[in-house]
Amino acid sequence: MEHTQRQLTLLEKEEEEQAKVEVWKCVRIFENCSELSATIKCDPSSLYRIMRFLVHHHIFKEIHPKIKLDPKSYAQTPLSRCLLKSSKNSMAAFIMLESSPVMLAPWHGLSARVQANGTSTPAFEAVHGEDVWSFAEANPGHSELINEAMACDARLSLPALIESCLEVFNGIETIVDVGGGDGTSLSLLVKACPWIARGINFDLPHVVCVAKESERVENVGGDMFDSIPKADAAIIKVSVYTLSSILYSHYE
Ligand SMILES: C[S@@+](CC[C@H](N)C(=O)[O-])C[C@H]1O[C@@H](n2cnc3c(N)ncnc32)[C@H](O)[C@@H]1O
Repeated sequence: MEHTQRQLTLLEKEEEEQAKVEVWKCVRIFENCSELSATIKCDPSSLYRIMRFLVHHHIFKEIHPKIKLDPKSYAQTPLSRCLLKSSKNSMAAFIMLESSPVMLAPWHGLSARVQANGTSTPAFEAVHGEDVWSFAEANPGHSELINEAMACDARLSLPALIESCLEVFNGIETIVDVGGGDGTSLSLLVKACPWIARGINFDLPHVVCVAKESERVENVGGDMFDSIPKADAAIIKVSVYTLSSILYSHYE
């Protein structure tokens, strides 16, 4: 018996050591500037300037060479790991959305909008000829980018909400998420509240027609300004900015 226990302890120790190696591999992926520039086919000196900027903003960490003439190497930081598509708390989709040409173009109209004291056409509409949601409907690629960005935000924020105030949902059997995107938020919430029998993920038709299927969650398409499906409770999870843009495009 004692022998078996010892063997188990050894096995556990071995596993622990292996886990440390795995973590180390994830944390310390060093690349030097010439390797990086060869991979992305660019001039090392231009890339070095960008890397210096990113190191300054803690997006990468500079690893000083042990031998003076060796090139500088870079390692990931917690911040850059959030930008990996494969990482658990990835915010990559969010950054891809916000840095897309479609979303960057309106920034060029910022001063005109500010100088008009908010009376001119909203910057997005002035550039693209329609509001964000109509544009997304007509451009499935952009809509997908929005849905993925919202889903990665939901994967970060829902666990915090579930951990801090799950009791708010006590006694609720049906719930509708208004503007729920691809349903990520609602599927996480329903999973955490087994007493919720039916969740309704409500969003514009072009969004729900590509939304994920999940247990006890039904995707329903429509316009919140026409009607909202009936339920014991409704949630709306959008930033104040987004809410104001939705309301603006409706009441304009
Ligand atoms: C900022 S996203 C939020 C997505 C989701 N609530 C989340 O937090 O992950 C706003 C959502 O509202 C939806 N939306 C905009 N106007 C709407 C309308 N009139 N009726 C229903 N949904 C609308 C958009 O399609 C989009 O999915």
